[in-house]
Amino acid sequence: MAEANNSDFLILITIFVGLGVIILVFLLKWIKQEQSNKDNTKNDKSAKSKSSSTETSGKHGKKEQQAAKPKKKQLTERETRRTARANEKGFNHPWLLATLKGHTGRVLDMDFSANGKYLVSCGDDRTVFIWGAKELANKDRKSLRVNIEFDYATHVKWSPDCKAFIIHRFNENCLEVYKVDKKKDGWLTASKAVTFPKGHDTDVIGMGIASNGKFIMTCSNKTDMIVWDLKGEKLAKLDTFLMSTECAKISPCGRFIVASGFTPEAKTWEVVFDKSGDFKEAKQVPQLNLGGHSSGVYDVAFDVDSSHMATVSKDLTWRLFDTKVNYKQGQDARLDISGRYESSSSKSLVALSPNAEVLVVATANDLQFYSTMTGKLDSTVENISNEHITSILFDASGKHLLVSSDKQIRVFLNVPGYRCAIAHAKEKLKEHQTSATRERLQQLVKESEDFLKNF
Ligand SMILES: *[C@@H]1O[C@H](CO)[C@@H](O)[C@H](O)[C@H]1NC(C)=O
Ligand SMILES: *[C@@H]1O[C@H](CO)[C@@H](O)[C@H](O)[C@H]1NC(C)=O
Repeated sequence: MAEANNSDFLILITIFVGLGVIILVFLLKWIKQEQSNKDNTKNDKSAKSKSSSTETSGKHGKKEQQAAKPKKKQLTERETRRTARANEKGFNHPWLLATLKGHTGRVLDMDFSANGKYLVSCGDDRTVFIWGAKELANKDRKSLRVNIEFDYATHVKWSPDCKAFIIHRFNENCLEVYKVDKKKDGWLTASKAVTFPKGHDTDVIGMGIASNGKFIMTCSNKTDMIVWDLKGEKLAKLDTFLMSTECAKISPCGRFIVASGFTPEAKTWEVVFDKSGDFKEAKQVPQLNLGGHSSGVYDVAFDVDSSHMATVSKDLTWRLFDTKVNYKQGQDARLDISGRYESSSSKSLVALSPNAEVLVVATANDLQFYSTMTGKLDSTVENISNEHITSILFDASGKHLLVSSDKQIRVFLNVPGYRCAIAHAKEKLKEHQTSATRERLQQLVKESEDFLKNF
């Protein structure tokens, strides 16, 4: 018993001594640190008094220094402001037809109404703007600002009848319908009409309304896609099976939904209604999947009648497909042409002119125009703004390309479109044509050549 007590005592002593040593080491360290901190502050103080003494010693020197310092600061501020202004205002390009100003935050999405009369845009400044689209180049163009309460819209689309637009609210993560009415003076007013229930748990990356007015589509950045009726009832919930989804759009014909993301193939669904107009199903159409890339697909685009679809991929290529195929008989979308584009490793967007003759890739703040006849780069427009391009959109005539990046929407003339029109006409003139067609084509070539003389 006594022996055991003894050894217990020994252990206790060892522990106490050990603890004592540890505490001592910490104390020493702490004292050292305190000392060095004091030294530092001392050094600072002495340095300060030194510099202030040099300042006071030369009276003129002090005044000059004091006067010079803020002046220099002001100058650099003014300079930076000036360069910022130069970048905003000063971006100029022979093809730049107009700049739509009104948003005070980044413009995120744009859409033309089906009747071609209006452009709608939304931004992170909590506003939606409607612009008179017939007078885009006119400084006196009309516009209407609609405020989105406590939130902002990431997506905006016109309803096919042009009597409403729908937005996707970012914070609420839900869809909202705004009614658009004509005022007595002919211009418009807009008011909130319906708010849909929340459909997705994560960010929505795509929203659309079918041109036939039969359904609305939203898709999250994961893999859940919803087909809605116009009243906010869910018709179908789909899984994109894309791992993560970056783009989801309804084709202009209103029949297909195309989505792309992490996988090297964009997927296509057909939304089917029965003869009485009731929703039947949304089914995958593997024949119209757009593949052949070796990496994820950032974005897809359509021509006016959905007979061509284009993809742009992380693998630095774009692909143009002929989708006017008999897919119901098992015919696959056919690759027309593909090309490589330049990128500084940011997400890229693609747009197709309504006649599918010009394909535009937007990457960072640059535009690259390609001829879909040759696949070759026609031109680039660089450094449009300090911020990345958020959306690109051809108008129905194909003569203008709208680009949003910062607070402004820039309207560019589609000059490459004229060159492509000449090339296509000349190609057709090689074949046998009726004299009327011949004349029309020759006229087209002449008019386009005249137009191009200005650039
Ligand atoms: C998807 O959205 C959520 C927010 O809802 C966000 O936290 C997440 O980073 C997004 N994922 C991707 C891949 O962008
Ligand atoms: C665009 O900006 C980059 C980097 O700032 C510069 O190297 C390039 O020369 C600019 N291009 C044009 C056409 O201004």
